Amino acid sequence: MDAFATLADTLFDPLDMALGQVSATVEIAEIAHVASVGNGVAQITGFSDLHADELVRFPHGVMGIASNLQEHQIGVVVLGDTDRLRPGDKVQRTGRVVDVPVGHALLGRVVDAMGRPLDDAGPIDAKDRLPVERPAPPIMHRAPVDEPLQTGIKAIDAAIPIGRGQRELILGDRQTGKTAIAVDTILNQGDNGVISVYCAVGQRASAVAHVIASLRKGGALDRTIVMVAGGDDAPGLQFIAPYAAMTMAEHFMAQGHDVLVVLDDLTRHARAYRELSLLLRRPPGREAYPSDIFYIHSRLLERATHLKDEYGGGSLTALPVVETQAQNISAYIPTNLISITDGQVYLSPDLFEKGQLPAIDIGASVSRVGGKVQRPAFRTVAGNLRLMYAQFEELESFARFGTQLDQETRHKLTRGRRVREVLKQGEHAHLDVPAQIAVLLAATEGLFDQVALDDMAKAEHTVQEALRAQDPELCDRMARGKPLSQADREKLVATLRNALSDTANEAGNGNA
Ligand SMILES: Nc1ncnc2c1ncn2[C@@H]1O[C@H](COP(=O)(O)OP(=O)(O)O)[C@@H](O)[C@H]1O
Ligand SMILES: [Mg+2]
Repeated sequence: MDAFATLADTLFDPLDMALGQVSATVEIAEIAHVASVGNGVAQITGFSDLHADELVRFPHGVMGIASNLQEHQIGVVVLGDTDRLRPGDKVQRTGRVVDVPVGHALLGRVVDAMGRPLDDAGPIDAKDRLPVERPAPPIMHRAPVDEPLQTGIKAIDAAIPIGRGQRELILGDRQTGKTAIAVDTILNQGDNGVISVYCAVGQRASAVAHVIASLRKGGALDRTIVMVAGGDDAPGLQFIAPYAAMTMAEHFMAQGHDVLVVLDDLTRHARAYRELSLLLRRPPGREAYPSDIFYIHSRLLERATHLKDEYGGGSLTALPVVETQAQNISAYIPTNLISITDGQVYLSPDLFEKGQLPAIDIGASVSRVGGKVQRPAFRTVAGNLRLMYAQFEELESFARFGTQLDQETRHKLTRGRRVREVLKQGEHAHLDVPAQIAVLLAATEGLFDQVALDDMAKAEHTVQEALRAQDPELCDRMARGKPLSQADREKLVATLRNALSDTANEAGNGNA
């Protein structure tokens, strides 16, 4: 009897266990076949009731999204190499939609658009998965944007400030410094708790490698997820990448984190979608883009927001990048994105050529949200920077005609040129709030008026150091977002003025 019980145990225990595992992973085992395949899209036949956007599985682990449901054929966007598929190949349905792993296990990793590792750090140990396409948070869950996202770039933080939860477009021709601004913004977050997702779409591998190296060198990789859908990858992967990046970011936002998502870039994303749509024989519209191209970008960027505390209280700031051609910002995709986002940072190739870097055209840039949440101390020193700079540029172009200039005009030009010098900033030279305020205040107050343009970099360094060394308490207050009182301001100007005259004296009176 005993022996029988033991035998029964050994027989049934593993069976029970196996049953338990099986029931959790039942798959709908309907089979269809590939009818034709090529360039990122496959036509399949055989399924009677496939759902729209359902994930299907081809041989060799290649996945696809059921996109065009027709009576006899289904157009599938292939999320992998179509060269490996042949007509007649079996197709399985999965009963689910595309999802990606989410959570802390992804930080510091380089993944593809489906969240599979592309680095050599092993499998990603994530418990949770979420669909790549998710509805944007409803209006009732959204809180006003009430905190700035410091980029560390003077021209942006002073003149085009960005708020947490905002969508700010970075727009410009190729090689104007768009990626550099996005990467510097990630680097500038330091250890302030902001988590970043850098999503590269359609970029060259060397460009992506460069970004990853910069993030690693700047110590930012550990709090960043890098998602890559390269220019050589299937257009389907390029298409889903930004949505997948948003999903990974939303998971952190729901836990109360502030997240920054860079989508680099949506011009290539739109092209990948255009390619897929043409292959799926959807009717082309303007510039051969399908008619829902506006909708695919608006539903993507609508997911950026600041949540009310009862819904997690986190924020998702989106920095979509768009590449223009020959500075044509009224082309289809740029205009769509300008109208979807809350402002744009416009980079001008002319400024780039002149060496005015970052090549931000302040007059053509705007932030419709962030200005309201700019740090008060910033507002005191940079409040009228935009206007003053615009007036200076106008004056300067007028002065070129060689007219006789009165004293006041010459003063304005002198000061404007110093301000322009101050707005120059090298790559990876992001500055904290107090340092930015010190140089902007010095420039707008005219403390640099006597400094030769060539010596400006040194003078800027002097005032930053002076503030840090002589008034750490004020530094700290400004960093925490406290306002700058009139007394503070006067004291700060005096400190900076003294530091500048000290170094001028040290440099020897011969130069004076
Ligand atoms: N502020 C800057 N100072 C110096 N060089 C810069 C600056 N911003 C960008 N660059 C350089 O300009 C080039 C183009 O920048 P990148 O960000 O790749 O342009 P884009 O993304 O617009 O094509 C890169 O070689 C980059 O190192
Ligand atoms: Mg770039």
